Amino acid sequence: MIQLVDKFERVHDYLRISLTDKCNLRCLYCNPDGDLEKLLHSQILSYDELTRLIRIFVSRLGTKKIRLTGGEPLARKDIVKFFETLSQFKKENPFQLCVTTNGTLLEDKIEQLKHHGLDKINISLDSLQRERFEKITGQDSLETVLRSVDLAESLGFTPVKINVVVMRGINDDEVLDFIEFAKDRMINIRFIEFMPFSENKWSENSFISYQELKNIISERYELKELHHEIQRVAKDFKIQNHKATVSFISSISNHFCGSCNRLRITSSGKLKLCLFTPINEELDLRKLLRSPGVSDDEIVRFINNSLDRKNFQHPDVGELLKLEKNNMLAIGG
Ligand code: 5AD
Ligand code: SF4
Repeated sequence: MIQLVDKFERVHDYLRISLTDKCNLRCLYCNPDGDLEKLLHSQILSYDELTRLIRIFVSRLGTKKIRLTGGEPLARKDIVKFFETLSQFKKENPFQLCVTTNGTLLEDKIEQLKHHGLDKINISLDSLQRERFEKITGQDSLETVLRSVDLAESLGFTPVKINVVVMRGINDDEVLDFIEFAKDRMINIRFIEFMPFSENKWSENSFISYQELKNIISERYELKELHHEIQRVAKDFKIQNHKATVSFISSISNHFCGSCNRLRITSSGKLKLCLFTPINEELDLRKLLRSPGVSDDEIVRFINNSLDRKNFQHPDVGELLKLEKNNMLAIGG
């Protein structure tokens, strides 16, 4: 077994895969206009190709955790069947299987997904107010998402993680409502700093740093930081007398590149060493997979060699704003 280690001795055992660049919602911070060019079906990795990659990453490259994202991963056809295919391999080669979803297409699938090996779930939920939810996402689906959260909790996904991207003037007045919402539940609320991507509605004014959010919460509640052995992405806190936990993802104000353990595969099969890798530096796994006669060994070598190119940290916001065609739909949230 090879370990994917880069020049800075970071071990990469976490893989995020975008299953599709399509989504049924139009979130302001991700897909506001909904008219970004879509990939053709032949351009996205097939389930067979994905299964092969997952097999290689887990059994040859030390991957311990895989998160399926999108676009909306559950919008991809036959997603349950895909999980079923993975489940046999997963039984013999354990890894943690996670999904990040908008929660609108989850209700009728979640039990089967769990049965076929889904371990963890993150649900995006940016407002608890019906009209505002619709304003942010373009769809009047708050009730559906709330039912999905209930169901996930009752099926024992503990905690259910809820992603809240906080935008000033849009939903920043709901921070305390989210805390109350989760209070007595096995929920982890994750407040995420708004990141700039091509074609989203980011501006300096709409950005709120995690420090500011934490101050707002600390005025009302007593936060106690939870320290983990390895500090990864989120800063996690317990709130006194609450069952829920609250986390902050400070991608912009306080990046966590130093402990990065993640690689990404876009829906079109590009290996991305960083969320902010410029599009011309993506590494074409799809081309390799589709070249006749390419062995697993060659794919292992390609991925392992790619790690040498990983930079220590992503550029600052000014540079990020200049990146073209860098959007979460294709890369995966
Ligand atoms: N800023 C921060 N997080 C984002 N996501 C998507 N776009 C952005 C952005 N611009 C994340 C959110 C969402 C997930 C699908 O991707 O966490 O819940
Ligand atoms: Fe869809 Fe998620 Fe992007 Fe919203 S954030 S548009 S739900 S992919």
